[in-house]
Amino acid sequence: MHHEIPALRWPAEAVWQAIEPLLPGFNVEALRQIDSTSSELMRRARAGLLAPTLLVADEQTAGRGRMGRPWRSRAGDSLTFSLGLPLQPADWQGLSLAVGLAVAESLHESIQLKWPNDLWRQGRKLCGILVETASLPAGEPGRYVVIGVGINITAAAAALPDERGVSPAWLQSLLPGITAAQALERVSLPLVQTVLAFERAGFAPFERRFAQRDALAGQTVALSSGQTGLAEGVDASGALRVRTPAGVQTVTSGEISVRPA
Ligand code: BTN
Repeated sequence: MHHEIPALRWPAEAVWQAIEPLLPGFNVEALRQIDSTSSELMRRARAGLLAPTLLVADEQTAGRGRMGRPWRSRAGDSLTFSLGLPLQPADWQGLSLAVGLAVAESLHESIQLKWPNDLWRQGRKLCGILVETASLPAGEPGRYVVIGVGINITAAAAALPDERGVSPAWLQSLLPGITAAQALERVSLPLVQTVLAFERAGFAPFERRFAQRDALAGQTVALSSGQTGLAEGVDASGALRVRTPAGVQTVTSGEISVRPA
């Protein structure tokens, strides 16, 4: 561990005040350093610690992205946090899209959504989202979900190319001077409200708003199956519709990766 970087000041009290009425028993915790806020909440869930928790870290030493990729960030340059809570939606599909929408809408009108769950600004990745679940004790309905969010805040965070080799976007280019702490204060309540709305009513109520920010709509995309086609938006379940020579394929979140061709 190194100690040159001053510990960040997180608005833990304000976040707790805003969210606790919606999530009884809610905790906010800020750590100086951890391997991964998502790994930590998953470990706790498997150990039976199931309270709704928002865990933010100045710095992650082993941040994880989707598909087993690493997620690299440095203290102050990025916002890295995870929200864990027991959840019982009728259908889990579309949750990551709703989460992305909540984060995008709470930050800036120019942020687009790249199905299934990246936030883009002009084709560059601004934020990644990782949704994982752990089982609850036998007999309890639903699962414990851990939603991990990583947002590039400063230009320094955007120095590392993303998984496509493209240099990422950063939030201060849209909101000059915003800090990781201020970004957390902006996104956390809308995120919780959205997750709870998704639990009650699924993705369908978000479909229209997602479409307004859909970065892939009208683009030629390559599916990891090898096919290419024209992205035609998402359906009410959150599946991506892709027009291929063989007809319209409905691509389900998680089973296939999609990139602009
Ligand atoms: C992706 O784009 O592949 C998802 C990136 C998710 C990164 C966040 S940072 C906070 C949380 N902890 C992790 O280890 N990953 C998520």
